[in-house]
Amino acid sequence: MTLSISPSGQACGAEVTGIDLTQPLSEADISELRSMWLTHQVLSFPDQPLSDDDLERITLYFGPFGDDPFIAPIAGRDHIIAVRRAADETAPIFAETWHSDWSFQSHPPAGTCLFGITIPDQGGDTLFANQQKALAEMPVALRGRLEGKKAIHSARNAYAPDGFYGAGDKGRSMDIRPSQEAQASHSHPIIGPHPETGIDGLFGCAGYIVGIEGMDEDDARDLIFELYRWQTRPEFQYRHRWQKNMLVIWDNRSVLHMATGGYQGQERLLHRTTIGTTPQS
Ligand code: SIN
Repeated sequence: MTLSISPSGQACGAEVTGIDLTQPLSEADISELRSMWLTHQVLSFPDQPLSDDDLERITLYFGPFGDDPFIAPIAGRDHIIAVRRAADETAPIFAETWHSDWSFQSHPPAGTCLFGITIPDQGGDTLFANQQKALAEMPVALRGRLEGKKAIHSARNAYAPDGFYGAGDKGRSMDIRPSQEAQASHSHPIIGPHPETGIDGLFGCAGYIVGIEGMDEDDARDLIFELYRWQTRPEFQYRHRWQKNMLVIWDNRSVLHMATGGYQGQERLLHRTTIGTTPQS
């Protein structure tokens, strides 16, 4: 079997075929997949009827399991969460806002694996935004205002008891567990090199970014939103269309992503694992 890659033609993303992910992979295949992942940032693998064991095994090819706070794992697994929406659900779509997964952690995850189980006939695409391209094409003046700054990241707007998914979030089929632990914060450089490729990029965005070190609240908010408007522009995006039995693996260090709706009346279910970091990543 020969690995074959087909770039999306958009700002990032590529489809990989010629590999059977239900079988253990060789070191050579793993290394080739990693190199493709670092180049294209979002890899999709159609027609892979994976079990939860397979999903965990594939995750571990890319790094250790990351830590998933605020969402309970599915029954019988420690490292798989269900991104689920019932056909009759009326709560806002989960994660329908740009973010890098768990960027508020002290060591944010390297990547995420998401596997399509029940996919609606239409809608439910995932959008990605290439943050290396967004930085490379950023106006010099805006870049100058961001250079050397550290953003303060926190989960409080989302997962604190008074946050978006807090006590007021009713009728959701996902098992979200809001907590005061969401009040914690960690700072990360807004501009920095990718730990594996060294390519400079932007990290994180408004939502989990709640401030900028050394700036007053109003100035920081203005800059965070100016950055947000730039880093999520359509020319930096890739729109991913899902299929049942499709695995997608993305690099949280170089892309933002967000869910989208448009499938009211239909169920959507995906299983998700998080790729943690190693000293190299
Ligand atoms: C996520 O952010 O993990 C969810 C993406 C999606 O549901 O499309």
